[in-house]
Amino acid sequence: GAPVTVDIGKVEPGQRITVAWRGKPVWIVRRTPDMLESLPKVSDDLRDPQSEEEQQPQYAQNETRSIKPEVLVMVGSCTHLGCSPTFRPDHPAPEIHSNWQGGFFCPCHGSMFDLAGRVYKGVPAPLNLAVPPHRYEGDSTIVVG
Ligand code: FES
Repeated sequence: GAPVTVDIGKVEPGQRITVAWRGKPVWIVRRTPDMLESLPKVSDDLRDPQSEEEQQPQYAQNETRSIKPEVLVMVGSCTHLGCSPTFRPDHPAPEIHSNWQGGFFCPCHGSMFDLAGRVYKGVPAPLNLAVPPHRYEGDSTIVVG
């Protein structure tokens, strides 16, 4: 499929938008400072906090899993069987996890991901959510693909 160009200039802090790329949903979240500060708080609960296990773009192999810390770009398909996880930025949410700091929850079999799409330990999803290949064209334009 062709690359998709996305203007993120109007995405508010804390907001997620969804675009279609190769028939898949791609999420773009503009993370707030609070959201970024939540990432180290869950490290001990995650399977692969630095995304070392996966074939991912090199710019996704870090704690924020992004080129710019505040902008998360991610394929919105669960790495278990492909359901679409829900965006749950609220926290705490003890019904999801005792240390929930916000993230994505898959309703199909209960997989949990943090606000960088990093998978929690002990859930069916084997891998962190995928970061699609993407680049910036200027400050507020992302080309996915
Ligand atoms: Fe998401 Fe199974 S498809 S937990």
